[in-house]
Formats: sequence, C-alpha cells, structure tokens
Amino acid sequence: MSSTSFQFKRYDLSEDRSLRAWSAADELLVSSSTETDLTSKTIGIYGDRFGYLSCNLSAYQPLVVTTNKSQELAITANLKANQLTETEFFHPSESLNNPLNVVFIKMPKSIDLFQLYLAHTSANSNDEVQVTCGFMTRHFTKSWIKIAEAYFEDVTQSRAVKKARVLSLKGKKKDVPSIELKSIAFNGQEYKQYGGVFSSNHIDYATQYFLQHVDVSSTPNTLLDLASGNGVIGSEIHKKCPDATVHLLDDSYLAVASAKLNVVGDKINHHYQGDVSNFESEMFDMIVSNPPFHFEHDINIQIPLTLFKGCHRILKSGGNFQLVGNTHLNYKVHLEKLFARVNILAQDEKFVVYQCVK
Ligand SMILES: C[S@@+](CC[C@H](N)C(=O)[O-])C[C@H]1O[C@@H](n2cnc3c(N)ncnc32)[C@H](O)[C@@H]1O
Repeated sequence: MSSTSFQFKRYDLSEDRSLRAWSAADELLVSSSTETDLTSKTIGIYGDRFGYLSCNLSAYQPLVVTTNKSQELAITANLKANQLTETEFFHPSESLNNPLNVVFIKMPKSIDLFQLYLAHTSANSNDEVQVTCGFMTRHFTKSWIKIAEAYFEDVTQSRAVKKARVLSLKGKKKDVPSIELKSIAFNGQEYKQYGGVFSSNHIDYATQYFLQHVDVSSTPNTLLDLASGNGVIGSEIHKKCPDATVHLLDDSYLAVASAKLNVVGDKINHHYQGDVSNFESEMFDMIVSNPPFHFEHDINIQIPLTLFKGCHRILKSGGNFQLVGNTHLNYKVHLEKLFARVNILAQDEKFVVYQCVK
C-alpha cells in the first residue's frame, strides 16, 4: 500500500485538529526505504512521533523504539485506524531480541537523544546495519555529523526534497562512546538523568524560581508532581513534607526512569503517562508543575491547557495547584476559567508562579 493510502491523526491532547501528523522528513524516510530490499530484514524505527513510519513500514513488522507514552498511544491509534497490525514498543534503555539490519530514525531535537538512538542501534544490530535519519533542512546541525561519525565510518547527506534531507550511516564502528548518565548537583542532591530528558546541564531556571516561591504551608497529604522530568520538584517538596504520599508523572519514559533514580521511598509513586486520566477525581491536596509547552520544534500551549483541566478534576475541593509559567504564556486567563481563585505567588520579567485554589 502506498503512503498516500493511509490516514493520520495526531491523537494528542491538542484540540487543534488541523495540525499535521507527519512532515516532509517522514515522507522522505518512507520514499528512501524503497531503495533497499526490506524483505526478511529486521527493521528498527526510532522517533516516529505519531505513527507515519510505523504504518508505512508495517508490512515488515518493524521493531518500534519509543520514548513517550503519547507517542505509543498515537502510533497504536493510527495503526488501528488504518486496519494494520498493532505493534509492541521497545525503549532505548532496553535490549532488542533480534539484531537490526535496517534502521529509520526521525531526527529528534535533542542531540543527546540522537546519540542514545545510535548507541542503542549500535548495541542491537549486525555489522552491516544501514541507518537512515530524516530531518527538515532548517533543523540541521553539524553536531549530528560529529555524533554519527563516532558510531559509523561512512556518513553522507542527501540532497533536499521538499526542504527535507536524510543522513545515511554505514560501516558500524567497533569502539564507540558509551552513554553515561548525566548528573546535576542541586540543593545538596546529585540529580541523575538519562540523555534526552529535559534540561540536562542544570536545573531549569523556571523550576529554580518555582522552588524558591512554592507555598507548602498547607502540608499536603497527597501531592502530584505533574510533568516531573527528573523529579526535582517532587523531590524538593518531599523533603519539606516527608509524610506526604507523592506521585510523579511524565510522558517521557526516560524522564520517569530518571525520576525513579532520584525520588525513592515507600510513599513515592511513579507514572509513565501523558495525561492524568489514571487518577481518581478529587484525589490530591496539592499539584505542582513546570508544565510542558515545547514539543520538539513546536510550541503548543493547548497541551498544558488540557492538563490544567485534568488537574481541576483530580484536585480535592479546597486543594491547590501551583505552577510556574513563562510570563509571555499568560496562563492566568486560562486558569481563571477553571479555578475559583488564582493568586500570583511571585513574578519577574521571565517567570510567574501561580497558585490556583479549587
Ligand atoms: C518543562 S519540563 C519540566 C520537567 C521537571 N518538572 C523540571 O522542572 O525539571 C516538562 C516535562 O513535561 C513532560 N511532558 C510533555 N508532555 C507531557 C504530557 N502530555 N504529560 C505529562 N508530561 C509531559 C516532558 O517530558 C518534560 O519532562
């Protein structure tokens, strides 16, 4: 079946149904896949955000390596909607059962994540593996070549088609760099995190601002750190409220795996989830968040707004939701539609900390 026969939707939390679920880089990856005979090859797919690659290559039963829960839900929904066989997912911290022969990578924005994909490919492939990485030309950075050359002898770049290109990698190297966990010292704790997790060199400045101003004087019994990343917000508040039951939730598998290294204890619960639908209504005394609004190369405020609606549902009456936002995002107008009271706890030219009471 040709790629044009399939229908794709994003199936994310955004209400804007006009947003496309693929780009010219995905199309170029699929058209370049026809240059190789894929019959009886083990194919790997990395970075397929909404399922365009998984659907188009479904006939070859590819091994699909994912990093996000919302990505897995979208791929499954698009496979189902196109009457294709559903697939299981692998994470880049797990080994594959079969060595890969051919790999397609939709280039991630994070350089660290690209390196993690190559390290995973390298450890889970035969020597002849061929890797094709698709990207929009405007996103190109020379660092990709440097990283690709650390893992492969032969790295070539295609000509542009509809402003997209591919990098082709061949000749797997034997001695390749190993992937180290990142470590960030903050407030007396070494926070560990996998490559590709939010803010890998320092604790994010919005998060630091939030932690200076968050108000925990109500001593919550049940606390949710929504979009927890490496878990720093949940961890720092847990130190102030050691008796609280703390839940940490993130859409990124690598974020949750990192938070599990940083926040441990009997009353700590980690969730690999891209929304709050798994929680009962009125479950939390307090929710804290530095919510996401960057998604790869896009800014999409609708996703945090949908998360805010969910926060209202799972918060107890009288409970409070505290969050930090970049000043220009002006979350206040949206929060005031949902919550009885919205206070500003702190504000400077870059960030605002809100306290919303249900
Ligand atoms: C701005 S970062 C904050 C991370 C961490 N709380 C901190 O302060 O360092 C936002 C986080 O939201 C996560 N995220 C993105 N979409 C999400 C969703 N739909 N549900 C939950 N988490 C999401 C990202 O993986 C990222 O870790």
